[in-house]
Amino acid sequence: MLWGGKSQAVAVTVTALLLNRGQACLHEHQFHRATVKRQDTPPTALTPDERIIVESISNTSISEWSYYYTHGYHIAGTNRTMAQWTADRWSENGWNSSLVAYDVFLNYPVSKSLSLTYANGSQFQPSLKEAILAEDDTTSYPNRVPTFHGYSATGNASAEFVYIGRGQQVDFDRLVQLGVPLEGKIALARYGGPFRGLKVKNAQEHGMVGVVIFTDTADDGDVTEANGYAPYPEGPARNPSAVQRGSVQFLSTYPGDPTTPGYPSKEDSTRTNPDSVLPRIPSIPISYVDAIPLLAALDGHGTDGAQVNRTNWVGALNVTYSTGPAPGTTISLSNLMNETYTPIWNTIGIINGTNADETIVIGNHRDAWIVGGAADPNSGSAIVVEMAKAFGKLLAQGWKPARNIVLGSWDGEEYGLLGSTEWVEEYIPWLNGTAVSYLNIDVGASGAFPFIDATPELHAIATETMKKVLWMDTNRNMYDVWYEYAGGNFGVLGSGSDYTAFVHNGIGSIDMSANPGEGDPIYHYHSNFDSYHWMSTYGDPGFLAHKYMAQYLSLLAYNLATPARIQFDVPNWATQMDSYYDDLIAIISSTSKTLNTTALRRALDEFALRAQEVQALDDQAVATNDPALTTLVNHKYRDFQRAFVSQGGLPNREFYKNLIFAPGLDTGYAPTTFPGITEAFNDGNLTLAAEFVQKTANAILAAANIIKT
Ligand SMILES: *[C@@H]1O[C@H](CO)[C@@H](O)[C@H](O)[C@H]1NC(C)=O
Ligand SMILES: *[C@@H]1O[C@H](CO)[C@@H](O)[C@H](O)[C@H]1NC(C)=O
Ligand SMILES: *[C@@H]1O[C@H](CO)[C@@H](O)[C@H](O)[C@H]1NC(C)=O
Ligand SMILES: *[C@@H]1O[C@H](CO)[C@@H](O)[C@H](O)[C@H]1NC(C)=O
Ligand SMILES: *[C@@H]1O[C@H](CO)[C@@H](O)[C@H](O)[C@H]1NC(C)=O
Ligand SMILES: *[C@@H]1O[C@H](CO)[C@@H](O)[C@H](O)[C@H]1NC(C)=O
Ligand SMILES: *[C@@H]1O[C@H](CO)[C@@H](O)[C@H](O)[C@H]1NC(C)=O
Ligand SMILES: *[C@@H]1O[C@H](CO)[C@@H](O)[C@H](O)[C@H]1NC(C)=O
Ligand SMILES: *[C@@H]1O[C@H](CO)[C@@H](O)[C@H](O)[C@H]1NC(C)=O
Ligand SMILES: *[C@@H]1O[C@H](CO)[C@@H](O)[C@H](O)[C@H]1NC(C)=O
Ligand SMILES: *[C@@H]1O[C@H](CO)[C@@H](O)[C@H](O)[C@H]1NC(C)=O
Ligand SMILES: *[C@@H]1O[C@H](CO)[C@@H](O)[C@H](O)[C@H]1NC(C)=O
Repeated sequence: MLWGGKSQAVAVTVTALLLNRGQACLHEHQFHRATVKRQDTPPTALTPDERIIVESISNTSISEWSYYYTHGYHIAGTNRTMAQWTADRWSENGWNSSLVAYDVFLNYPVSKSLSLTYANGSQFQPSLKEAILAEDDTTSYPNRVPTFHGYSATGNASAEFVYIGRGQQVDFDRLVQLGVPLEGKIALARYGGPFRGLKVKNAQEHGMVGVVIFTDTADDGDVTEANGYAPYPEGPARNPSAVQRGSVQFLSTYPGDPTTPGYPSKEDSTRTNPDSVLPRIPSIPISYVDAIPLLAALDGHGTDGAQVNRTNWVGALNVTYSTGPAPGTTISLSNLMNETYTPIWNTIGIINGTNADETIVIGNHRDAWIVGGAADPNSGSAIVVEMAKAFGKLLAQGWKPARNIVLGSWDGEEYGLLGSTEWVEEYIPWLNGTAVSYLNIDVGASGAFPFIDATPELHAIATETMKKVLWMDTNRNMYDVWYEYAGGNFGVLGSGSDYTAFVHNGIGSIDMSANPGEGDPIYHYHSNFDSYHWMSTYGDPGFLAHKYMAQYLSLLAYNLATPARIQFDVPNWATQMDSYYDDLIAIISSTSKTLNTTALRRALDEFALRAQEVQALDDQAVATNDPALTTLVNHKYRDFQRAFVSQGGLPNREFYKNLIFAPGLDTGYAPTTFPGITEAFNDGNLTLAAEFVQKTANAILAAANIIKT
């Protein structure tokens, strides 16, 4: 994923968690294990086909696929062999598989440097390198990937520096209020919260000239060296040299190849200037040990961290998290990147269904920031190969699904969801006409606690499928474990993984993962230590979370693709949108401003009515076993979310078109509901907010019209 990692901040409630959490790859997770006590539910009995799937899935073969994916350089656009290997594994299990290439703009690291110079002239030189560990083979590969930021700007900067917390707009507002000078300074930012590219964007917009982003052990909960846990590889705590790589694209404005907005990147495609969605100031990621001297140099200068009084400002390192600047104490940094246009390769596998006009798409990205990538993303890649194998067993017995199944192994996700976005941009006419659902698995396993984000029509089938999976070689089913961990809540899709292009073209989606719980070993997100050795020793020993997530994804895909009837729960859209409406009203009421939301309320009521009607028609189709009626209902189910797509997109971000939810403009990962309305209102543009009340209401009425019977 474009984000990752986790924060086990102990005082977070489940609700707060669902709002703040990051997801798969482009972003960082914050997970908290709820302690909801309830009776376990008995597992659901399996059909013969489902039994074939479950029995086909083996942790031993998954561990072999994992080993393959985690022992070769496979940063975006560099490993065609791995794409072909993936196609070969799918083909030998009966899928029609091929590679689909795009020609994208990327940059790769060449060299960088960073030094701290105290006022007295003495210097500190951070290492900027991750440790080589004898136990962990891929940490010493000669072609291991250096620490860097994808899409970072080439440049040099030398200046006094300021600590900016997590670098959200509110952090900058506080710094401005405190009178801390920003113009011409270098920013020292903490990872966590907003997508890293937005930290750089905000710093750039405040006239800062460079950014250094560090990992803070506050994000590791109790599992720290300071608390007596040994660091990896001896123990579960974070290896002190670990560095989080990652993209600094301005994700909440535009994902995909920044030189081809809205259309696929082919060799001869027209290119536009990407400057508005990529940083112009250089940035460098560092470890927490490298950060300590930098932060310590600010102690006693500017405003002390406690007095800054911002959430997540003070971390767990032994410093005061003062703002600085410290007069005469400077950072010098240089960052040299090699910009290029290069092919990336998606692997696409197809099983045609009997209904040519209904399609289920399943996807996982393959590219990683490191040679390993055992969790991000190749736990998902290994799971998908195992799923392809299970479906091969069914194909061999003559099974043919009602719907087409398309399997995507995306390249270039880490730089900004490139492979999936370009593919959707190329195939949108066909997808718009046939896509029923998109199923995403990015970090399939970095621990053993399931977590799911999904559009509302999928909540019921996602829940029922969890009851079919016995979890982690125990007698408990996945549903009960999920209920305890996630509080029985599905998250709302923001961004940070490959479902984004689907959701913003009106295709309902689900994103699933299994994550560490409180007290579990620290997952080294986007670091060399996200390796096969870490996974098999700490993350998922025995590959059981992989195995059960593979069962889950396969059973879900099977049940969405096989039966004549599409198993959607559309009335749940009315329920969920009511809660988004309540959230909007709460936001409005907490201010002195007013906004007339009557049109939205009326549209929601109309939608709720039509949702009941289509549900009744669905029940009738089941009762009468009438194929024509089933097709009619199926097509309404397939199409209604297309109406949520706003043609001009959301304010100032054309790409993001879904009027019901989108990543927050200043979070990048975490979702905002009714985003056009909410963000215009929060910005104080009540004219624009009113415009989006009308647009959103019209979209909901158009959706209601599609499901109308
Ligand atoms: C591609 O990945 C495979 C599998 O991990 C690896 O064996 C191979 O060396 C990689 N290719 C390159 C060019 O690094
Ligand atoms: C220079 O200042 C730093 C920070 O105050 C201090 O740690 C270091 O010992 C000083 N070096 C010399 C040579 O005085
Ligand atoms: C910190 O801010 C909160 C409100 O945001 C305020 O209630 C509290 O008094 C502040 N604390 C300090 C030490 O300024
Ligand atoms: C924290 O830093 C202070 C001042 O630099 C030092 O005196 C103290 O020993 C440090 N504490 C720990 C636990 O390292
Ligand atoms: C930037 O810094 C690097 C490393 O210190 C140096 O080699 C290079 O010449 C500098 N470039 C410019 C334009 O100053
Ligand atoms: C930049 O990449 C190109 C290939 O795209 C390569 O030929 C060239 O040597 C690279 N330059 C540097 C400085 O790494
Ligand atoms: C793959 O394509 C061949 C013909 O090109 C077709 O006969 C076969 O049914 C296809 N397989 C699947 C799983 O769709
Ligand atoms: C599978 O379906 C696609 C799209 O309808 C069609 O173009 C293709 O010819 C089909 N392939 C086979 C083997 O039926
Ligand atoms: C998608 O299909 C809808 C009709 O269902 C149509 O109104 C819309 O223009 C199509 N969008 C695209 C991008 O093809
Ligand atoms: C697979 O799981 C079994 C327990 O069910 C375990 O004994 C075995 O070691 C696991 N295999 C691998 C390769 O981890
Ligand atoms: C609020 O909007 C509704 C629907 O557009 C409209 O009928 C009503 O007159 C508006 N109320 C006010 C006070 O403007
Ligand atoms: C508010 O939004 C409208 C578009 O509806 C735009 O014309 C106007 O410039 C915006 N006002 C401000 C202050 O940004």
